[in-house]
Amino acid sequence: MYKVTADSSTDDSNSFYNISQDETKPFYKRIRKRDICTAFFSSLFTVILFSAIFFPIVFCSILPKIRQQYNNATNDTTDMSKGKVLEVSSPKANFSEPVDIPDYVRGTYLDASTWLTTDDFNTTFTNETVGGLSIMGLFSFYNDCTRANPGVPPLNSPFPYGSQPVRGVNLGGWLSMEPFITPSFFEKYGNGTHQLTDETELHQFLGQDVNNVIETHYNTFVTKDTFREIREAGLDHVRIPFPYWILFSSPNETHPFQIGWRYLLRGIEWARENGLRVNLDLHAVPGNQNSWNHGGTLGVLNWLDGSELGQKNADLTLKLHEMLATFFAQERYKNIVTIYGIVNEPNMFVLENKKVIDWHKEAYKTITAQGYSGYIVASDGFTGVGSIEKNYAPIRYPNMVIDIHRYTIFDSFMLRLSHIDTLHAVCDVWDKEFEDNAFLPSFVGEWSLADTDCAKFLNDVGEGTRWEGNFSAAVYPNGGCAVEGACSCDIPNADPLNYPPSYKTYLNMYALSQMEVFEKTWGWFFWNWDTETSAQWSYKKSRNAGILPKLAYEKSADWNCSILQSSPLFKIENLEEYY
Ligand SMILES: *[C@@H]1O[C@H](CO)[C@@H](O)[C@H](O)[C@H]1NC(C)=O
Ligand SMILES: *[C@@H]1O[C@H](CO)[C@@H](O)[C@H](O)[C@H]1NC(C)=O
Ligand SMILES: *[C@@H]1O[C@H](CO)[C@@H](O)[C@H](O)[C@H]1NC(C)=O
Ligand SMILES: *[C@@H]1O[C@H](CO)[C@@H](O)[C@H](O)[C@H]1NC(C)=O
Ligand SMILES: *[C@@H]1O[C@H](CO)[C@@H](O)[C@H](O)[C@H]1NC(C)=O
Ligand SMILES: *[C@@H]1O[C@H](CO)[C@@H](O)[C@H](O)[C@H]1NC(C)=O
Ligand SMILES: *[C@@H]1O[C@H](CO)[C@@H](O)[C@H](O)[C@H]1NC(C)=O
Ligand SMILES: *[C@@H]1O[C@H](CO)[C@@H](O)[C@H](O)[C@H]1NC(C)=O
Ligand SMILES: *[C@@H]1O[C@H](CO)[C@@H](O)[C@H](O)[C@H]1NC(C)=O
Repeated sequence: MYKVTADSSTDDSNSFYNISQDETKPFYKRIRKRDICTAFFSSLFTVILFSAIFFPIVFCSILPKIRQQYNNATNDTTDMSKGKVLEVSSPKANFSEPVDIPDYVRGTYLDASTWLTTDDFNTTFTNETVGGLSIMGLFSFYNDCTRANPGVPPLNSPFPYGSQPVRGVNLGGWLSMEPFITPSFFEKYGNGTHQLTDETELHQFLGQDVNNVIETHYNTFVTKDTFREIREAGLDHVRIPFPYWILFSSPNETHPFQIGWRYLLRGIEWARENGLRVNLDLHAVPGNQNSWNHGGTLGVLNWLDGSELGQKNADLTLKLHEMLATFFAQERYKNIVTIYGIVNEPNMFVLENKKVIDWHKEAYKTITAQGYSGYIVASDGFTGVGSIEKNYAPIRYPNMVIDIHRYTIFDSFMLRLSHIDTLHAVCDVWDKEFEDNAFLPSFVGEWSLADTDCAKFLNDVGEGTRWEGNFSAAVYPNGGCAVEGACSCDIPNADPLNYPPSYKTYLNMYALSQMEVFEKTWGWFFWNWDTETSAQWSYKKSRNAGILPKLAYEKSADWNCSILQSSPLFKIENLEEYY
């Protein structure tokens, strides 16, 4: 989630103004394979018999898939993976299964008796690693037969990226916490003189309790039901943001190292059970790639910033990719982790762009060298869709996909637009940009329904808003208010069931317009599946309120961008501009 410490409307690289005019090339297409699952179930008996006898491994076999090549665990080649095995502070729930584990792992994250829950975790002790990353908690068996809905192929058949749009959501605020997604943590902890501003501070503040509190959050903010609900909403992909500290131990940091890794692996299996493909998103890297609170530590940008430490952290991040790519190159992830993000939102407003692009090329090589064969994602760094093409020649980087994030609210200029003009910005300006670049492998990895920056802690803990005119870094004294000085956050922050009907109508149009325009790329991932309080950032809450479609692939025929384009005087009755 893009957040600015200064008002971005002053920046020339604002994508709203940069409409690229690149030539049009044929749209990338992939041929959809025969539907193997259907074929299988249509002749169930024959196939069971046949496969049991002749093919120990077949697509969609109901025989459990035999254990993959875990025995080929690599030697730990990285410093990170040799980090000390973390002591876990508090003994956990009712785990009483007798476990035969070596003494050296007792009380560590490898010891299942320290786990908060054992639900859907394999508790058999293992110290095996792949790429230096533990396989703890994983069951050997899996099945890629599921399809998310009748319109998408089952997992074991390729998703036709480029000819069918991805419709997905982010699981932000889970493994990578953000104050505005779960404000309760940032309200509850902290002291009179200092409010906690990011997850790093939260971990420091929690001290001894950190593992317990954070693991409880991992176990409750996203559950098995979450994936079922995402599927029921007609979505077909999940983007899962996670920070570097779930991957390795570092003696000088207070993060709950490694625990989140187990939850990530379990989450991927739950996605699999629901036929949801996964877009992995390394959201926070050592040193913080963007200085925003979701990069780990607010205000820090010690990554590729020209300093020695920045280089060290960039190198360390490449090491992380060596580990991650080795892990996710395993056969069991081939059909499920189809999209692999290099790093979320590197701050290309500040960092030298060439350095960032060159580093991404290095990362791409590292990832493919480990055998990962899915799509590899580079952020556009807010430089616009077209501008990225010249940076990654598709012939040399054939699996590279560009991740674009779009919001209309972090820029006072756009925020000040009237509701209808905001629809025009989406349906005319963005539409043209995506239309002109429709050949590019790209998707919109983040967008939302927020049409103000009102959500609590959105602009950082303790910050005001552009909308109400008290965001400290705002350029315009009256902020981004469409009615100077008269805007209020009361309605945007209210329960959507209490929104004026005209506002709901508008937000529905705003959502459908974005979906329509973003579906000219490889598709979209809404930010976010859910939040504690802010409905406009929660797919779940907005869908429950009737603002988002019941099924993402079955949109209302009552609204589309051409209606707006064909009626210049289009307006919505009783829609006010102060909310
Ligand atoms: C281990 O991995 C290597 C390289 O990927 C491969 O050549 C070898 O056959 C694997 N060994 C086993 C036992 O799977
Ligand atoms: C692991 O390390 C040992 C000893 O250093 C070496 O002989 C072996 O080839 C290594 N195995 C792999 C898979 O790298
Ligand atoms: C957990 O253990 C406690 C104490 O032994 C017991 O009272 C409780 O019923 C157990 N809960 C479960 C779910 O087994
Ligand atoms: C893994 O566990 C086995 C059995 O307890 C032990 O012999 C081996 O040394 C362990 N390997 C590592 C890398 O800790
Ligand atoms: C549980 O994990 C162990 C160690 O990785 C593995 O040997 C075993 O097959 C797994 N059990 C199941 C039921 O998948
Ligand atoms: C409050 O927290 C800040 C930052 O963690 C710390 O520097 C300060 O000493 C704390 N104040 C009190 C009264 O505990
Ligand atoms: C941890 O801190 C110690 C003491 O300040 C320092 O010597 C060491 O280099 C640090 N380690 C890392 C990995 O930063
Ligand atoms: C900003 O202004 C609003 C409306 O007056 C107020 O509720 C809020 O507390 C203010 N926030 C800050 C950080 O001053
Ligand atoms: C847009 O909606 C109108 C009214 O429902 C419909 O007639 C038209 O065909 C739609 N256009 C597109 C491109 O879907």
